[in-house]
Amino acid sequence: MINLPRTIEWVDGKVRLINQLLLPERLEYIETEDWRRIAKAIKDMEIRGAPAIGVAAAFALALYAYHDSSPSFEGFLEGLKRAGEVLASTRPTAVNLFWAIRRVLSAAEKAGGLDEARRAVIDEALAVQREDEEANRKIGEYGEKLIEDGDTLITVCNAGSLATSYWGTATAPIYTALEKGKRVRVFALETRPYLQGARLTAWELSRAGVEVYVVTDNSIGILAEKERIDLAIVGADRVTRLGYVANKIGTYPLSLVARVHNIPFYVAAPTSSIDLEAAGPEDFEIEKRNPEEVLYCRGKRIAPEGVSALYYAFDITPPQLVTGIITENGVAYPPYEKNLVRIKSF
Ligand code: MRU
Repeated sequence: MINLPRTIEWVDGKVRLINQLLLPERLEYIETEDWRRIAKAIKDMEIRGAPAIGVAAAFALALYAYHDSSPSFEGFLEGLKRAGEVLASTRPTAVNLFWAIRRVLSAAEKAGGLDEARRAVIDEALAVQREDEEANRKIGEYGEKLIEDGDTLITVCNAGSLATSYWGTATAPIYTALEKGKRVRVFALETRPYLQGARLTAWELSRAGVEVYVVTDNSIGILAEKERIDLAIVGADRVTRLGYVANKIGTYPLSLVARVHNIPFYVAAPTSSIDLEAAGPEDFEIEKRNPEEVLYCRGKRIAPEGVSALYYAFDITPPQLVTGIITENGVAYPPYEKNLVRIKSF
């Protein structure tokens, strides 16, 4: 039985989330009643991963609704919208963040009065979390069928339970395969500079009993040459309607190597990560983070003083390199232009 800690929870007017900056050394939680503290946690990547930051933003709005003392419905809605704007400015690439904020705000707008609106915000935030886990369980069921007993998989970043409310997206097929008695070996790309692969994916997979090897980002080529890799499964921060996949930096090079070496390359993502309003890479922002995060490794400077760095946090894999997209409604295959619209509107 796989038992992973909950990434984020709502507990009677408080939010409790794992501080992912401290893993794997320490499993510690941040507990807060302050929605602004959640905004900071998203910005500073104490919580990260597209579905998890969607849930975090929804819970931040729920905190606002729970603790706000505005006497009027209009005043409440205005404050809630302002909180939504602050939350939306934390990170630009994962569409789940904006999707979750819109969803919760619209639940509030539809309410008939103040008390109903407060209740609606909290209920909607809880629904965002619950549906995320349900989607991941289904992704696990569809994705597990792609895995044979004894397979070796490769993944990048952490699209695991820690990146969602539970079970993960790219890890969901792995966990479900494990539950069904299949043995799986996983290569986890370390994912410089935040090291989500080495710190987080290796942590949760090993806790779940999966045989996991941390591999450096620059070893994809030799691994594909020398080792048997049966399948690549990665997550997504945003999938456009044409099938462009924005995901953690290093995903695109992995897809190129996979294509050359005939390794099936799958993306696992809930339909909340599909952005039908975006067609291609020009329609959304790729986050660039502080160069210091590249120049320093775990607090120690690794490049000479005076040298700068360029840090794109995500890249974009074009649809022709994506074998299929595993969602809670099934696996979408090309042509994505047709099949993603269909799968999202199930
Ligand atoms: O910068 P991060 O750690 O938030 O990036 C996370 C990823 O790129 C994940 O692969 C993606 O969000 C999918 S999580 C299920």
